[in-house]
Amino acid sequence: MQDINLKITDRNGDTHEIVAPTDMSMNLMEVIRSFELADEGTIGVCGGMAMCASCQVYITGGAEKLVPMDAEEDAMLSEAFHVEDNSRLSCQIRISPEIDGLEVAIAPYP
Ligand code: FES
Repeated sequence: MQDINLKITDRNGDTHEIVAPTDMSMNLMEVIRSFELADEGTIGVCGGMAMCASCQVYITGGAEKLVPMDAEEDAMLSEAFHVEDNSRLSCQIRISPEIDGLEVAIAPYP
């Protein structure tokens, strides 16, 4: 069991230093929701199925810690708005010890 530190910048530009547990099978979208860093109904709309892009984040630090995106994530991001080179779907980022120190900014709501 290990907690990790994350820096998450919300849609207002405020950065939050978050401590997240790695032993609860959470993904980053669920962490953002549980800390209420985005308005209810504007993130995680598809429930984490890589089908809505409401959970899009920009990786602003520690991108090398992440596993590459799979075909579903790549396909969803190719159709989403506001996509940048550093975009990822936060529902596809598993909270694990490997991503300790990751920094992200939540993308605008589509
Ligand atoms: Fe829908 Fe991540 S919650 S794509």
